[in-house]
Amino acid sequence: MKYAFPDNFLWGSASSALQTEGAREGETTWDYWFAREPNRFHNGVGPQQTSTFYQHWKTDIQLLKQLNHNSFRTSISWARLIPDGIGEVNPDAVDFYNQVIDELNEQGITPFITLFHFDMPMAMQEIGGWENRDVVDAYARYAQICFELFGDRVLHWFTFNEPIVPVEGGYLYDFHYPNVVDFRRAATVAYHTVLAHAKAVQAYRAGHYAGEIGIVLNLTPSYPRSQNPADVKAAHVADLMFNRSFLDPVLRGEYPADLVALLKSYDQLPACKPEDGFLIAEGKIDLLGINYYQPRRVKCRDSAVNPQAPFMPEWFFDNYEMPGRKMNPHRGWEIYEPGIYDILINLRDNYGNPRCFISENGMGVENEQHFIENGQINDQYRIEFISEHLAWLHKGISEGCNCLGYHMWTFIDNWSWCNAYKNRYGFIQLDVETQQRTIKKSGEWFAATALNNSFDKE
Ligand code: BG6
Repeated sequence: MKYAFPDNFLWGSASSALQTEGAREGETTWDYWFAREPNRFHNGVGPQQTSTFYQHWKTDIQLLKQLNHNSFRTSISWARLIPDGIGEVNPDAVDFYNQVIDELNEQGITPFITLFHFDMPMAMQEIGGWENRDVVDAYARYAQICFELFGDRVLHWFTFNEPIVPVEGGYLYDFHYPNVVDFRRAATVAYHTVLAHAKAVQAYRAGHYAGEIGIVLNLTPSYPRSQNPADVKAAHVADLMFNRSFLDPVLRGEYPADLVALLKSYDQLPACKPEDGFLIAEGKIDLLGINYYQPRRVKCRDSAVNPQAPFMPEWFFDNYEMPGRKMNPHRGWEIYEPGIYDILINLRDNYGNPRCFISENGMGVENEQHFIENGQINDQYRIEFISEHLAWLHKGISEGCNCLGYHMWTFIDNWSWCNAYKNRYGFIQLDVETQQRTIKKSGEWFAATALNNSFDKE
């Protein structure tokens, strides 16, 4: 069967500043944490060992072109642009981002720019990070500076990438700095992130720029083990906490009432100001980026909660391992292609069918050099992964979902937080030592698919 996509469908990939640029000036939480606890990072490899986009941006954009990208998302590093988060703008950073943006536009590759992709300037973390409302204001100023500097040539902005991840990693499950386990503080961080998002949207609207502004959320559909009411309720709570805590404010301009009631009943609500509600209502977006990697399967708890234990989302559900689930063993994530369709249908039916696109989807694989044939990684597994997801995406579009494109994580294999270079995701293989780039089979497949705006599959 031929899967053809609508005209002007967005074909591209995503990356982020910290994971690719290198040669950084301003310190981030990642630099600080790595200097103190290198053991937390796979093979002790830290954020300095990147794919050197800062040096290779021009030739890398040529490679994007070779992959037939018509769009590409990366982020601006807040710490590079404003090293202390709130003070002077670094002119070298302005030059660098100007060059990248201009070159992308010149090559016919529309730049999609994220303002925050997990990289908090250390100076901002020192004053409390997202727990401190002064950081919300500093972020709003940073966003405004970016709009003023680049808003004439960047027409697609994203306030945050996966804002729930720093909440989970930094304040619940101990895989990002500052390694806190405290639900109330996590809720405060999440709440202040929504306020920061809304302030950036407000500033963008006030500036009457020509483009649009959105956010990128990792949506993880919550599937209950069964239709038993207790399992269904468990899945509902997981959905409220991990998806709707951001999805509802940015699309509906308010929090789900049952999420607020639940947190209130456990005394976990962050401190709110009366004017916050108006601000959140103004944070409604033009374009939603959806990162989809895996589903979440849950069941009701079958043991009682220890009331002395820290309050956690898992007070309301247990994770469920569905027998026979298809796994990516390298990352330990389930592969469930229909999830992409379920997300789109949920948006169509419950959120007014917003303009959206898949902003990340991908498969991280360890030791990919084992798949080298005639000097090239033959990643047939990745081609299958993409085409199966695209087939479900196609079905969603044919049923009226407003999905405008598909971006893959990622372009060139890159450094990935605590996993460093363990799992490779790129269309292009990176030799970290020599910095040599070699296109994988999946890169060629994607280039052909983008060029034809379609692909064939049984
Ligand atoms: C996404 C992030 O969640 O997943 C990326 O936006 C990240 O920044 C990617 O690199 C892959 O993550 P991991 O943990 O498998 O390396």
